[in-house]
Amino acid sequence: MALRSVIQGCGACLPAQVLDNVELAERHGLDTTDTWIRERSGITRRHMAGPGESATSLGAEAARRALAQAGATADEVDCIIVATATPDNAFPATAVHIQRELGMTRGFGFDVSAACTGFIFALSIADSMLRSGQARSALVIGTEVYSRILDWTDRGTCVLFGDGAGAVFLRAVEGSERGILSSHLHSDGRQAGILYVEGTDGPLRMAGREVFKHAVTKLAAVVDEALAANGLDRSAVDWLVPHQANIRIIEAMGRKLDLPPERVVVTVDQHANTSAASVPLALSVAVGDGRIRQGDLVLLEAIGGGLTWGATLLRF
Ligand code: UT7
Repeated sequence: MALRSVIQGCGACLPAQVLDNVELAERHGLDTTDTWIRERSGITRRHMAGPGESATSLGAEAARRALAQAGATADEVDCIIVATATPDNAFPATAVHIQRELGMTRGFGFDVSAACTGFIFALSIADSMLRSGQARSALVIGTEVYSRILDWTDRGTCVLFGDGAGAVFLRAVEGSERGILSSHLHSDGRQAGILYVEGTDGPLRMAGREVFKHAVTKLAAVVDEALAANGLDRSAVDWLVPHQANIRIIEAMGRKLDLPPERVVVTVDQHANTSAASVPLALSVAVGDGRIRQGDLVLLEAIGGGLTWGATLLRF
């Protein structure tokens, strides 16, 4: 019987420090307003990592919570895949730091670099490993501290990002109706110059309007691709869990799928754009508050630097 990768637990971890738009502008002396940020992006506040917080510490805590929700222990984890653009070190990978933090003494871990699409890429790799039998369980984590790579004089980008982590714990299950149905990954290196980090430490550079245009068309296309690959109509989708970059892009995707707004998970207002953490964070929030339930058809999508973009369709 075929194996399916089933999400058994989700977890999130946000830094304790929260700044609303006015506090952010005051702290960094920005020439901006709460109204501009809310109207252009939908963001009202974001969490910011403090001195003791890092991609490792936030990711490890999100992973612990995902394991707890699954009723699993770290001994049961075969593989950790971390998506991050803000690792603690160039190497070793954030995944092995998290492996140590969880007290794991077996299995393997590595990081994936696909910017804001990183979680979708990492989830797709985990799914392939679980279905091929290379691992029986996996932690997939998106964790970011973008506050450390922002140019605080660039008001067009620094107001848009936040810090946080989200994680899922998956197991390979035989003959399950639930699980990942398919993932669809894309990149186009010709667009590398419109969203990138200078060198390895930053700052981040983004041509926002250009990225916005790509986001609307590429996300619409990859969502169609995911539905067509599974012979499903958009009416089958119970929940859209989109990358949380901009409320205007999220609403456009909801309209494209004909989903009422209450079927689209939105956290950009509270978390801002947490890059690779944004999709697992949003998923974790909607599972945690009981909106997304076992058996629901869930569509994940994201776009980010690369450009990279992708979608995953799964039965939760
Ligand atoms: O996570 C990866 C994917 N990323 C995205 O999907 C982000 C996509 N892009 C966006 O979300 C939007 O393009 C932004 C939110 C970044 C910007 O919104 P926009 O409607 O495209 O604004 P804009 O960049 O065209 O700027 C409009 C005006 C400009 O002034 P002028 O030239 O019209 O006089 C900017 O200088 O707004 C000005 N502006 C600001 N004003 C107040 C730019 N940033 C700010 C600011 N506060 N923070």
